[in-house]
Amino acid sequence: MFAALGSHAWAYPMLEVAHLLGVALLLGNLALLELRVWGWGRALPVEPLAQLSLGLAVVGFGLAGISGLLMFGTQAGELLANRVFTAKMVLIMLAGCNAGWFHARRSLHLLDATARVQMLLSTALWLLVLTCGRWIGYV
Ligand code: HEM
Repeated sequence: MFAALGSHAWAYPMLEVAHLLGVALLLGNLALLELRVWGWGRALPVEPLAQLSLGLAVVGFGLAGISGLLMFGTQAGELLANRVFTAKMVLIMLAGCNAGWFHARRSLHLLDATARVQMLLSTALWLLVLTCGRWIGYV
């Protein structure tokens, strides 16, 4: 199945489209929440905003994850030997740990300095994931 996916005329490019759509949903919605945690758009109630933006961010991550795993399947051996791909996976895990920490300490309710640092860390980690994703093909 993966060999057919990799050699099909439009299947792989469409997986890339799905991947980038997932990335856009993930990063776009996280950016919105980060700005709100940093005090922008104070008129917007943080809880419903977070519910909407985090829900869409999770959908985005799911789309990126599924399409990413399918792309991975077409060239697993090469990607497992690719240091940038390894770095990307480690960064995704770190971003997951940071998100877990953010929710475990109820940062959304505290909206304190630590919450702001966690949001900055989240954006930095996801931007590094984005950079590694684009870089994989060049090493
Ligand atoms: C479990 C999650 C993920 C897996 C397994 C995965 C896997 C992959 C694979 C296999 C590729 C193709 C690499 C190539 O041959 O050039 C790729 C491309 C890419 N990934 Fe991911 N990825 C995941 C999540 C993400 C996330 C969360 C982001 C961004 C925040 C991201 C950003 C990118 C970008 C920008 C590309 C390049 C797309 C292009 O040039 O068309 N990926 N990913």
